[in-house]
Amino acid sequence: MLSYPLLLLAFATQSLTLTPDANGNSLPSYSPARPPAVPLAVRTPYLSAWSSTYNQGTLNTVSPIFWTGDALGWTGIVTVDGISYNYLGNDLLPLTVAYDASYSNFTFLAGPVNITASFFSPVLPKDLCRTSIPLSYLSTTVQSTDDKPHDVQFYSDINSAWVATGEDGVMNWELFRNGASINGTGNVTVAPDTMYSWIYEPGSPLPFGEAADRPRWGNVAYSTQPMGARNFSFQSGPALNIRYSYVNSHSLANNVSTAYNGTWWTEAVFAYAHDFGPVSKAEVRYTVGLIQEPIIRYLTQGGVAQLQPWWKSCYGDKFPMIKIHWDDFKVAQQLAGQAERQLASDVKEFYHVSSPEPAPDTPSPVQSPSTWRASALPTQTILPYIDGSSDAYGFLDPDNFTGLGVPDASESDSYYAIVALSARQVMGSFVYAIPPTVSSCNTSSPGSGEPLVFLKEISSDGNVGTLDVLFPTAPFFLYANPEILKYSLEPIFQLQEGGFYPNPFAMHDIGGSFPNATGHISGDDEAMPVEESGNLILMSYAYYKFSGHSDWLQRHYPTLTRSASYLLAFSKVPAAQLSTDDFAGRMINQTNLGIKGIIALKTMSLMSRMYPATSTTTNADADAMGGVTDAVVKAYYADWERYGIAPSRDHTLLAYQWRSSWGLLYNIYLDKLLNLGVVDKAVYAMQSRWYARVSQLYGVPLDSRHHYTKSDWGIWAAATCSASTRKMFVTSIAYWLNNTATRFPFTDLYETIGDGGYPRVPDEVTFKARPVVGGHFALLALLRTGQTARSEAGDTTGSLFVVNGTNALNSTEQEGYVSFDVESTLMNGFGEPRGETA
Ligand SMILES: *[C@@H]1O[C@H](CO)[C@@H](O)[C@H](O)[C@H]1NC(C)=O
Ligand SMILES: *[C@@H]1O[C@H](CO)[C@@H](O)[C@H](O)[C@H]1NC(C)=O
Ligand SMILES: *[C@@H]1O[C@H](CO)[C@@H](O)[C@H](O)[C@H]1NC(C)=O
Ligand SMILES: *[C@@H]1O[C@H](CO)[C@@H](O)[C@H](O)[C@H]1NC(C)=O
Ligand SMILES: *[C@@H]1O[C@H](CO)[C@@H](O)[C@H](O)[C@H]1NC(C)=O
Ligand SMILES: *[C@@H]1O[C@H](CO)[C@@H](O)[C@H](O)[C@H]1NC(C)=O
Ligand SMILES: *[C@@H]1O[C@H](CO)[C@@H](O)[C@H](O)[C@H]1NC(C)=O
Ligand SMILES: *[C@@H]1O[C@H](CO)[C@@H](O)[C@H](O)[C@H]1NC(C)=O
Ligand SMILES: *[C@@H]1O[C@H](CO)[C@@H](O)[C@H](O)[C@H]1NC(C)=O
Ligand SMILES: *[C@@H]1O[C@H](CO)[C@@H](O)[C@H](O)[C@H]1NC(C)=O
Ligand SMILES: *[C@@H]1O[C@H](CO)[C@@H](O)[C@H](O)[C@H]1NC(C)=O
Ligand SMILES: *[C@@H]1O[C@H](CO)[C@@H](O)[C@H](O)[C@H]1NC(C)=O
Repeated sequence: MLSYPLLLLAFATQSLTLTPDANGNSLPSYSPARPPAVPLAVRTPYLSAWSSTYNQGTLNTVSPIFWTGDALGWTGIVTVDGISYNYLGNDLLPLTVAYDASYSNFTFLAGPVNITASFFSPVLPKDLCRTSIPLSYLSTTVQSTDDKPHDVQFYSDINSAWVATGEDGVMNWELFRNGASINGTGNVTVAPDTMYSWIYEPGSPLPFGEAADRPRWGNVAYSTQPMGARNFSFQSGPALNIRYSYVNSHSLANNVSTAYNGTWWTEAVFAYAHDFGPVSKAEVRYTVGLIQEPIIRYLTQGGVAQLQPWWKSCYGDKFPMIKIHWDDFKVAQQLAGQAERQLASDVKEFYHVSSPEPAPDTPSPVQSPSTWRASALPTQTILPYIDGSSDAYGFLDPDNFTGLGVPDASESDSYYAIVALSARQVMGSFVYAIPPTVSSCNTSSPGSGEPLVFLKEISSDGNVGTLDVLFPTAPFFLYANPEILKYSLEPIFQLQEGGFYPNPFAMHDIGGSFPNATGHISGDDEAMPVEESGNLILMSYAYYKFSGHSDWLQRHYPTLTRSASYLLAFSKVPAAQLSTDDFAGRMINQTNLGIKGIIALKTMSLMSRMYPATSTTTNADADAMGGVTDAVVKAYYADWERYGIAPSRDHTLLAYQWRSSWGLLYNIYLDKLLNLGVVDKAVYAMQSRWYARVSQLYGVPLDSRHHYTKSDWGIWAAATCSASTRKMFVTSIAYWLNNTATRFPFTDLYETIGDGGYPRVPDEVTFKARPVVGGHFALLALLRTGQTARSEAGDTTGSLFVVNGTNALNSTEQEGYVSFDVESTLMNGFGEPRGETA
């Protein structure tokens, strides 16, 4: 943030009910937890604005950041009786910071008023039109705290950093009034519902290009209306000049200056000012976003197509879309409110909150801390709790034997804090496109048909539609709307079925660099054959089970059989393959990878009975399906137990040949979720006991090679455990959120010891803002199948999915599935599940 050398920006002087830190500085209070970064405007991989809480930063002490951590200019000032307060920028003390699935609300005390800045990115996964809108709301409210009217003005701007310029550094912009350009010095209309939009774009756009993960094409739009202000003004130009003149005069010059030249102005901003005069309450709303037309490059039989965004099929062009989104505010609030209540009540339902939560496990015998260093992790058993606390989890820091136990906390509150924070992050990783075969605007039936959905593998490598990133994310969609999982898998099937992928296993991703979904014609993607083949089969089958729609599964069954043939050959002994946790390295015979393949084969044996060979006899791989029988799955599983369980029989090994190793056996979650009955209940119970023995302060390490873990796999594993071990996983992640030293949007990869920071292997690995936090919904996906917190490890009692290993399944009538009310999907957020058993 720039400073304002000559300006009077007041500090709040009231004594506030804030927690002082060690230096006596007041800190904001966070609810339900203190995230490493609070989501502000999070809708797409390119509209991703956050407020870092690192080093006690908050909305008005540090600049908002793009998910990468680079600064984004977004300023908000409220002037009260002539004194200007920055609520978005720096200087004020916030009172409270509260978030839920769709909102982040910041409350400040500014002289005789309260300021509330409410950042709203609606999470409505069942509503594809609203979900595809690449805009987000900021609503700023001023309320008198002394019952007297006060003279109130609002100022806000964004800078030009929300897209990347070309090398010439030039940005072009215009201000639009009700969709018409205002050129030069304007003429102000204060009619309350006049729509003003600053629109800017790179002077030399590169469609589908990126620079440092920021897009090099598209229109950034910052919009508002006068909303009852007695005067309204606007201005573009260098940040310092404009903010300076606002703070002096409390209005702007109504001047749209000509194009920006990056070497000339240090920071161009696009500003609005609203003057309400004396009022006891006033509210101003802004919408911010990035509008890209087209949005994705996609390989088709007819060549590389440029796909248009899905919202065009709902709302037409950008100005109507901006206006409809603006006018939709109240309705979007109602829908998000419903979805939020549904989320909160689903969490309660999963936990049966009326019943007492389990006590933590009693610590097992204590090993001398000094053996830690000597023997390193593989033989480590348990270290003492700090404080001798009987109700805390957590262990000594192995470097110096200091540390804190995790205080006992409500598991359901902890879980809510995790999923509410994760929701916008999941949704903000996906874009929705009109398929190449569909005309761009079906006016008779807006938003009809099915989009193609593409994720960006944010921060880890920028791939498009990565299968092993969609896989950990999937519980969110199975819980919230399984159709989005289908729309995300569809491009993978289309590329493989279109003959664009030569390998005999499933693709890793559908394009090396988002937004170019141009496939891997030469098969040169990052090979994870067992991993991705298992992922494709398991997600497709899970979609069918959660939606009850078998036609789509049947259509792609021949493709699945190809992956299944591969698994038949390689899942039991995967040899030297990469798994999704590729940052941890290639490893021979990974136990967790083998079981994934075997569980996937089980679903194939069920499918082979649903889809008799007739439909697939032309496919050579279908012949192999004769081999995927329950008997084969049972035999593979028996071998897997022999290879994968430690001789001590108290845990599974990380790799068959590595005696002292262990790791999170998270892939058995699918066995439980889909009630497949592949894995013995004793294995669930064994792992559940083991995790409690090796947990560190911030959870169970991913495996015995490192101290770091993955929060998504942690919750997947938790979902397979006994109540007490599950609680340990969940509360340790929420505790980590409150205490981690990470500084960017929710990382799924972090140290379980020390300051809970990013792993150093040896350089810092900063995963950020990845969609895999959708894996945190693994417990809620269980709830969708009728399973709740009451079940013991591996227990699927209550599951709506009826599976009898020896009983042929032939149609949806013969087995349980969860169906969603398709009619209501356009109006509801998470919606009500309508579980049905046959
Ligand atoms: C996180 O911190 C907040 C206060 O900032 C507290 O209310 C909440 O209980 C904490 N949650 C956990 C799981 O420690
Ligand atoms: C945030 O503010 C909105 C609008 O007033 C409200 O509907 C929502 O419940 C608030 N959420 C939280 C967590 O405070
Ligand atoms: C101001 O905001 C604080 C924190 O949200 C709240 O406790 C207080 O009641 C508010 N005061 C008024 C007058 O709205
Ligand atoms: C704006 O005005 C300038 C100067 O009169 C002119 O050169 C330019 O073409 C105008 N732009 C638009 C979009 O009308
Ligand atoms: C000023 O705005 C009004 C209302 O939009 C319009 O009728 C009028 O023509 C404008 N005048 C100029 C000089 O642009
Ligand atoms: C996507 O492809 C286009 C066309 O080849 C190219 O200009 C652009 O740089 C690519 N984008 C990325 C992020 O690699
Ligand atoms: C409204 O703002 C403009 C621009 O600052 C100013 O010229 C005009 O006098 C103001 N009008 C009122 C009624 O304050
Ligand atoms: C930007 O402004 C500087 C200083 O006036 C000038 O030297 C440079 O040529 C300009 N660049 C462009 C692309 O207009
Ligand atoms: C992989 O596991 C199989 C089965 O236990 C074993 O035969 C093989 O030697 C293992 N590979 C290595 C390199 O240890
Ligand atoms: C112990 O080591 C950790 C780093 O591993 C460090 O953050 C912490 O401050 C150390 N504690 C003490 C008391 O030295
Ligand atoms: C499962 O199927 C077998 C064989 O058809 C049958 O004997 C058994 O009773 C079934 N079990 C359940 C629980 O339905
Ligand atoms: C599956 O259903 C079809 C049609 O109802 C029937 O012809 C076939 O025999 C069934 N297959 C099995 C294995 O039950």
